[in-house]
Amino acid sequence: MAKKLKIGLFGFGCVGQGLYYVLNNSTGFKADIVKIAVKDKTKDRSVSKDLITFDKSVILNDPEIDVIVELIDDADEAFNIVSEALKKGKHVVTANKKMLAIHLEELYKLQQQNNVSLLYEASAGGSIPIIRTLEEYFDNEELEKVSGIFNGTTNYILTKTINEKLSYPVALKQAQEKGFAESDPTNDVEGYDPKFKAIIIALHAFGLIIKPEEVLNIGITTLHENDIKYASEKGYKIKLTPVIQRLENDKVGIIVAPSFVKETNQLFNVENEFNGVIVEGKFSGEQFLQGRGAGSYPTGAAVLSDISALSHGYKYEYKKHVQKHASDFTNDVIVEVYFRYNSNADIEKITFDEVSEKYNSGDYNYIVGKVNLQTLLTNREYILKNKLFVSLVNDKISLNTKISSKIAKEKQLVNN
Ligand code: HSE
Repeated sequence: MAKKLKIGLFGFGCVGQGLYYVLNNSTGFKADIVKIAVKDKTKDRSVSKDLITFDKSVILNDPEIDVIVELIDDADEAFNIVSEALKKGKHVVTANKKMLAIHLEELYKLQQQNNVSLLYEASAGGSIPIIRTLEEYFDNEELEKVSGIFNGTTNYILTKTINEKLSYPVALKQAQEKGFAESDPTNDVEGYDPKFKAIIIALHAFGLIIKPEEVLNIGITTLHENDIKYASEKGYKIKLTPVIQRLENDKVGIIVAPSFVKETNQLFNVENEFNGVIVEGKFSGEQFLQGRGAGSYPTGAAVLSDISALSHGYKYEYKKHVQKHASDFTNDVIVEVYFRYNSNADIEKITFDEVSEKYNSGDYNYIVGKVNLQTLLTNREYILKNKLFVSLVNDKISLNTKISSKIAKEKQLVNN
């Protein structure tokens, strides 16, 4: 029989209020929020004053509180709260993807050292149960790839601007008003938020702890009408899609960038704030999960599901990390992209290994071809500063040819 949990909640913003509502409107669930710690003393709150505290130690030092739910904005302060709670032997649920992605290693160790559970389903994919699906269902199967749409705000903006011809600022404002965007929406539109989510997913899908600064994220801020026209003439939609892929040498490559999505791709019809995750297993093939990737109630529901799992003593086992399912992470890979540039200086800087299409009218210039991911990573700031646009033309990450032909030769030797 599950025991009744006493919850100390940090943060009462969009997701905190969503959790409060979802919890109080769920039948048969045994958990109470006994205290809520908030920062702003001037804000009117929709809950009894007795529930509110401005002092985090009131929650952290209360021996009656067995679960901490951390739903604040500030990633540094979130880490202080979560690490202190874990050290005090309290279980924690969090939705803070930035804090998790930056501190995965420490948080993994803190759970082991203190024999406590840290759950974070709401941190990636909103209400899509992707982390538990990877942890439990795909706990042993070797995965080939996990890709998808991991950010509701940018998907909402792309849907509204491309399909419905709203202006970018209006679409962004709507995403903010609906509670989809981060408090600093740069995290969404420049692709940091989906990158943090990709890093969390990579740990559960491939067992790797990867540092955020090693992964390329390109967002949608430099998207131009010409890019939209190019894509739509070919029948593609533009989506911001992280791709996490196992390579022939058992390493894993990751890129977070816009991509041209064909009608045959499951992500083609994932619109507005919805997210979609495609999991490709070695034996099971392709699976597709879709759901609301952002918003108060869907995210609150994911947090509630973690609280419920805690009441049954659930912990992530990180089996793929323990079993070393992938050997390493690498950026020495090739991706095929559409690259809109301004001047020759741009293509001298960002050099392509192979070009399959080229257009140059002075006002509008682009190349479609293969480029090393490291070249894009090195020139990320240059691309953004000069308003150049990069979009994947497919969802494939390949090993660079030197490495893959070496592997092919080695395989041949073994077969002979
Ligand atoms: N800003 C995030 C998004 C919220 O738009 O996806 C959910 O993580």
